[in-house]
Amino acid sequence: MNILILGSGGREHTFAWKLAQSPKLNRLFVAPGNAGTASLAQNIPVGVNDFNGIKGIVLSNKIDMVVVGPEDPLVNGVHDFFLNDPELKDIPVIGPQKAAANLEGSKEFAKQFMQRHTIPTAAYQSFTVQQLESGLAFLETLSPPYVLKADGLAAGKGVVILNDLEKAKQELTSMLKEAKFGAASRTVVIEEFLSGIELSVFVLTDGKNFKVLPTAKDYKRIGEGDIGLNTGGMGAISPVPFAEKAFMDKVLDRIVKPTVEGLKIDNLPYKGFIFIGLIMVGNDPYVIEYNVRMGDPETEVVLPRIKNDLVEIFQAVADQTLDTVDLQIDDRSASTVMTVSGGYPETYDKGYEIFGLEDVTDSLTFHAGTKLENGKVVTSGGRVMAFTSFGISFQDALAKSYESINKICFDRMNYRKDIGFDL
Ligand code: AMP
Ligand code: GLY
Repeated sequence: MNILILGSGGREHTFAWKLAQSPKLNRLFVAPGNAGTASLAQNIPVGVNDFNGIKGIVLSNKIDMVVVGPEDPLVNGVHDFFLNDPELKDIPVIGPQKAAANLEGSKEFAKQFMQRHTIPTAAYQSFTVQQLESGLAFLETLSPPYVLKADGLAAGKGVVILNDLEKAKQELTSMLKEAKFGAASRTVVIEEFLSGIELSVFVLTDGKNFKVLPTAKDYKRIGEGDIGLNTGGMGAISPVPFAEKAFMDKVLDRIVKPTVEGLKIDNLPYKGFIFIGLIMVGNDPYVIEYNVRMGDPETEVVLPRIKNDLVEIFQAVADQTLDTVDLQIDDRSASTVMTVSGGYPETYDKGYEIFGLEDVTDSLTFHAGTKLENGKVVTSGGRVMAFTSFGISFQDALAKSYESINKICFDRMNYRKDIGFDL
């Protein structure tokens, strides 16, 4: 099979690494890819939202399957684009169609879906600019902290949590009236605050059947102790030690099954990953958000623990025979630590050479923001490279990731030294 992966981060390098192990793979392409994917596949400089460009790659390279990494092209309808094109319609796409991708593309849509299918989540109301007055009045009925969410995609920045009522009112006004997050905050969801510890559960579905993949916990804040600005993710571990069987049974019965059933009932075709962001309140799971893709850097710890041939798994998704797959999971723990550019997630410089990669032997290195320049690997993004290791415990795995990071360097390299600190 010839496979095309869309995306350019650590998640896509991990997909490439895993797919490349399959005897069923013939040629692998990544658009646009990074220096890591270039070592396993052919990178093609086409953007993930350039659907006509993607069509060109698919036809000229006889691509048999497309795996979509990030949410943008899914929310923009890349899967529908394939289904509606006579030359592309029979080529399977891993990732949902636009209607279901709205579970990530619109928080209001996701909340309505959960309400309709009785899936536990925080109570909410949503408001547009015409309803600003009722939104302000609604805030007065709540107790702090106040959770305000821009409805649409806002590059991970659209959620604001405030303790002060006046600040929350100002924020709501600025989101709705001044379009603080552009079109994304045309509608704002105001939610009940839930207090607990977060984790993520990943589900792969073919629209009929599903498999629950290993759990993971990621660390989103830039600063140690979970302080400072939000990032794409600074590290992750899998499995999550507190997600024990009794809790996971609740997740399966109350959340995973009703989600997959709900997609069927609502006639929302779905072939792809469902990333369920959960919070454990007491001993009960609540959904914080849905994403319609794998997480990054969660992929860097989830995929390495799956022993199956990923090409076979994706073929089963395409054929709706996922029930015939016997998922085999490595029982070791995996951890990943993301090295980032100094200054990230605010402004940072690019183009620094990365030294010492050849000395890393005990970890898998997954490139995120890197590119090849005159044969050298240089930084080209905020999140630069993730170091994934295995161990009998996540602490043991983390120790190896940190040892590996000690062997490499680039100017202004930064990383969190406390991944897993709260477990
Ligand atoms: P989201 O983009 O919806 O995942 O929200 C970003 C982050 O905000 C989550 O990872 C949580 O840490 C926090 N958050 C979102 N909704 C709530 C809520 N209802 N209660 C408490 N924390 C929340
Ligand atoms: N690591 C969080 C995400 O991929 O959205």
